[in-house]
Amino acid sequence: MAYETIIVEIEDHVALIKLNRPDALNALNDQLMSELATALGEAQQNDKVRCIVLTGSEKAFAAGADIKMMSEKSFVDVFTEDLFTPDSEAITRIRKPIIAAVSGYALGGGCELAMMCDFIICSDTAKFGQPEINLGVIAGLGGTQRLTRFVGKSKAMDMNLTGRFMDAEEAERSGLVSRVVPAKKLMEEAMNAAQKVAEKSMITVMAAKEAVNRSYETTLREGLLFERRVFHSLFATEDQKEGMAAFTEKRQAQFRDK
Ligand code: HXC
Repeated sequence: MAYETIIVEIEDHVALIKLNRPDALNALNDQLMSELATALGEAQQNDKVRCIVLTGSEKAFAAGADIKMMSEKSFVDVFTEDLFTPDSEAITRIRKPIIAAVSGYALGGGCELAMMCDFIICSDTAKFGQPEINLGVIAGLGGTQRLTRFVGKSKAMDMNLTGRFMDAEEAERSGLVSRVVPAKKLMEEAMNAAQKVAEKSMITVMAAKEAVNRSYETTLREGLLFERRVFHSLFATEDQKEGMAAFTEKRQAQFRDK
């Protein structure tokens, strides 16, 4: 499908999706969110794709929801449209792994979009923030909820109440991102990470993603039970036999997603 606000490339089992509204620092509008949800849905359906990398430009992953698009809207407008909700929920229902590669600004909805991905690798130029408070609104796509789970209440409150930005070093220290790399190395690092994931058994990868995500939705006891049952169920796969045989035979496993 032809897109106007994103660019999709598929390379060696990895779908690279690049947000592409350079004049607005990749600000999110209805078209971009809808194209992104569609592209992710296509990647989910495409058997060749085993991992997805979501990125922006060097200057901005995304500078938030499009303020010019929102400025004239009323309560009735945003309530009725349920601005971005169906598309963002579709994004979080993708079962294949999604890595966010963040350079520059990831603000407001941009920070929230990165947090919808499975993990974030960022460049040393990255700046994360929830500056909605400066616009007379609050975060609307997870900035008070996911961010709090990532970095704890104190930092989440600080960011949501003062609107200050968090740099890459602080983001790594706080658990918001998994790795920080020099800007020039960002895409190489993210694509290598995606290749590593793509080599695994797809069933196991999707099961692991589901189990980690379950930890955000349930109690520890229920989460551990869910994990144990999924662990048990993977013994019904050929890939478990292959993975363990390969270890014993001191060779590389050849997973077949079965
Ligand atoms: C629309 C945006 C934009 C945005 C930047 N631009 N962010 N347009 N919506 N969120 C546009 C600018 O208007 C400008 O275009 C161009 O991109 C370059 O931006 P500058 O401001 O000139 O660049 P710079 O001085 O380098 O500053 C970068 C910046 C700043 C710090 C990122 O642009 C900024 O503060 N942006 C807004 C960040 C923000 O408040 N995000 C939260 C949005 S609310 P023109 O044509 O004017 O020159 C949100 C809610 C999500 O995300 C929940 C939804 C349900």
